[in-house]
Amino acid sequence: MGLYSRYVLPHVINCACGTRPIEKERAKITPLAAGVVLELGFGSGRNLAHYDAAKITKIYALEPEPGMLALARKAAAGASVPIEILPERAEDLSLPPASVDCVLITYTLCTIPDGITALEAARGALKPGGRLLFCEHGAAPDADVAAAQRRIEPLWKRLAGGCHLTRDVPALLRDGGFEIDDLTAWYLPKTPRFAGYTYRGVAHAR
Ligand SMILES: C[S@@+](CC[C@H](N)C(=O)[O-])C[C@H]1O[C@@H](n2cnc3c(N)ncnc32)[C@H](O)[C@@H]1O
Repeated sequence: MGLYSRYVLPHVINCACGTRPIEKERAKITPLAAGVVLELGFGSGRNLAHYDAAKITKIYALEPEPGMLALARKAAAGASVPIEILPERAEDLSLPPASVDCVLITYTLCTIPDGITALEAARGALKPGGRLLFCEHGAAPDADVAAAQRRIEPLWKRLAGGCHLTRDVPALLRDGGFEIDDLTAWYLPKTPRFAGYTYRGVAHAR
């Protein structure tokens, strides 16, 4: 792993994930989490400020990248809810079947190399009746923006830790074994359109 990925990128991502429009999205989805929660790609812990602590039993904070893990551990240390860090990839989830009430994934499905395997693993960890809460950026519906996403993506992926711009989030969720109950999709304000088409919603395991 290069010095950029280990020491610089985590801070760049932390800043990029903390814009006001993104924080507003977190404020809409994260408070819906309840019980034992698995957060995929915990990153620097930006969702922590948005959980409704009274509803949370425990958070499993999954984060595989060493540079990000350092920020994750720091955020977890100051949290008001019990947190266990899982230093592993979502594709290799180690939690037993039917062990969590809720899965939260924000701005991470773009980066996980094998999104379908990760979603299938999360689906297996969910208790019957459990929910997946998601807020992700991905493929835009407008032809000009979609073309720009395809053009920019190869360079973007290298600079942004493997982040894809063109992922079809609803299709990924379905292919990973989820049925979407609620979906809002729109361009985040004050955000470049190629990176800002956002899918926020709730799904359950099929
Ligand atoms: C753009 S950041 C988002 C972080 C956080 N979810 C947020 O909303 O601020 C993407 C995160 O996915 C993590 N990640 C990368 N590969 C992953 C994998 N295979 N499984 C789970 N998370 C992964 C990265 O280390 C990074 O923390």
